[in-house]
Amino acid sequence: MSASQDTVYQATCTAPVNIAVVKYWGKRDTSLILPTNSSLSVTLSQDHLRSLTTARCITSSTSTSTSPRDRLWLNGDEEDINEGGRTARCLAEMRSLRQKIEADNSSLPKLSSHPLHIASENNFPTAAGLASSASGLSALIATLARLYDLEAHGVSQSDLSRIARQGSGSACRSMFGGYVAWEQGERADGADSVAVEVAPASHWPDLHALILVVSDKKKGTPSTAGMQRTVATSALLQHRIKHVVPERMDRISRAIRERDFDQFALETMADSNQFHAVCLDTVPPIFYLNDVSRAVIQLVTELNRASGRAVAAYTYDAGPNAVLYVQEKDVKLVLDVVLQYFPQSAASFPDPFATGVAPTGSKERVAGLDGFNAKVIPQHDEGAVARVIHTKVGDGPRTLDSATDGLLDAEGLPK
Ligand code: DP6
Repeated sequence: MSASQDTVYQATCTAPVNIAVVKYWGKRDTSLILPTNSSLSVTLSQDHLRSLTTARCITSSTSTSTSPRDRLWLNGDEEDINEGGRTARCLAEMRSLRQKIEADNSSLPKLSSHPLHIASENNFPTAAGLASSASGLSALIATLARLYDLEAHGVSQSDLSRIARQGSGSACRSMFGGYVAWEQGERADGADSVAVEVAPASHWPDLHALILVVSDKKKGTPSTAGMQRTVATSALLQHRIKHVVPERMDRISRAIRERDFDQFALETMADSNQFHAVCLDTVPPIFYLNDVSRAVIQLVTELNRASGRAVAAYTYDAGPNAVLYVQEKDVKLVLDVVLQYFPQSAASFPDPFATGVAPTGSKERVAGLDGFNAKVIPQHDEGAVARVIHTKVGDGPRTLDSATDGLLDAEGLPK
């Protein structure tokens, strides 16, 4: 039996943002997106930051398109799905998985032979300075997997991560919740370069993330181009790949399994520092941190030193925004200290993603910390940190009801 002309097949999923604590930086195969080192990330809650995607098979002969083809809308605007591009490759891989299942089971509708309409939206503004490619690509793969019913036919999350990886490397880690490793793999075809769960969010649920959005007018070097410049020119990257990351992956995985925040923080900050060091070691050098980013590093370093333990761990991706990982018991303290040095206007804090842990408003928290050098950095003007997004570790992709939450209308066009 083939799909009836009027049957609607559609699926809607959300997928999370992830922020690496061991950074992926460098490809050994730029077309399959195979990394030069393994990496590890924390998945952030979709209650606050997420990409939402609806995909639909256009099976009806009354399709609005004259020549049926795959179509994709991002935040309402139609995007070109370039032949040979990353999205086209992901769609082809997903179709081929479905095709195999259909070949083995002739009673299944032949969804793989129909064009797709896909609409996707992020709930965070581009101005938040967060990369949306990881959540966007993983939402695409999760939604197509649901549409094609792949899970019921033995396709695993790691199999799906292999495909998400080909859309954007870091996207493979957003196929899981909690604490996720992307194993670099050894094979030339990339079959073993997949994401695996180190621990679910429920294993260590009290890890919060504070994203300090640092204003930066200049657009930095895009990560795809920047990392290959590093591969081509940096000797420090070769040292990092061979002698630093393998041991760090082991140590940080153990810290997560043992919920050892001190060790987790130590490795996270060291890895962020080394990532930005290899950027500086690139010819010509790449700068992602600015003066405000560096002031946040100094503040966290002093706070941890004066506390005699790790209270916060900073990490920076390919931009000036800081992400601070903090245990729940320390969130108020860290927010107070951050807000004392980087004041927020009422409009920017509490932010719309507030998770219920509000700062106490005390301006004197650091004064209570014995030995804290209050002069470690000057207090900044309001707006140096444009806003703070407060979220925490969260789960992997979720399936929603297309009837109520879907992004496509009865014609298969964006609502
Ligand atoms: C600094 O995954 O955006 O955020 O694979 O070329 O799409 P492509 O790159 P992308 O790079 C992310 C780099 C990073 C570190 C990380 O997330 O591990």
